[in-house]
Amino acid sequence: MPIWARVRTRKALRGMSSVVVVLLGIAFANPAAAKEARSDAMRSPLSNYMLMCQGCHSPKGAGLRDQVPAFRDEVSKFLSINGGREYLIQVPGVSKSPLSDQATADLMNWLFFQFDATHVPDNFEPYTEEEVAQLRKSSISNATQIREYLLSNKIPVTRNEQTYLSP
Ligand code: HEC
Repeated sequence: MPIWARVRTRKALRGMSSVVVVLLGIAFANPAAAKEARSDAMRSPLSNYMLMCQGCHSPKGAGLRDQVPAFRDEVSKFLSINGGREYLIQVPGVSKSPLSDQATADLMNWLFFQFDATHVPDNFEPYTEEEVAQLRKSSISNATQIREYLLSNKIPVTRNEQTYLSP
C-alpha cells in the first residue's frame, strides 16, 4: 500500500472512531432510548408489513381466500368486540413474529388506519410497547375457533379491562 493511502486510511479511521464514540455516547446516555433504537422499530410500519406480513396477507390486505382473512374493511371491527383487542395481538402471525414489541405496536396502530379506518372506534387507544409485551406472552394456538367465537358473538367492549384469551 503506498504511504499516502495508509495515511488517508488512518485519518479516515480516526475520523470514524470519533463518530462511533459520539453515537455510543448518545445511545448509552439513555438506556431506554438505546433499547428502542432497535432496527425494526426504526423501520416504517409499511416496511415491516412488507417484510413480515404481506406474504400471507397480501400488499393490499386482501388476504388469501379461505386461508388468510382479509384486513380490508374488516380488521378494525375486532377493536369493538370484547376480547378482540387482545386477539389481534395474540394471533400467532403477530405474537410470534420476530418484530420487537415496539415495532409491533407501531405496525398494528398503523395497520388499522391503513386497511380499515372506518371501523376504528372513536375512543381507540393505540397499543403500547408494554401492552404488546403482555399480550404476546399468551399467544393462542386455536386462533380459528377464537376468531369464529368473537365474530359470531360480537360482545361489545363494555369494560376497560383486558380479557386475556386462554390458549
Ligand atoms: C404464514 C402466514 C401469515 C403471516 C406471515 C402473517 N399472518 Fe396474520 N394471519 C394469518 C392467518 C392464517 C390468520 C387467521 C388466524 C389464524 O388462523 O392464525 C391471521 C390473522 C391475523 C390477524 C387477525 C385478523 C383476523 O381477521 O382474524 C391479524 C391482525 C394479523 N393476522 C396480523 C398479521 C401481521 C401484523 C403480520 C406480520 C407481522 C402477520 N399477520 C403475518 C396468516 C399469517
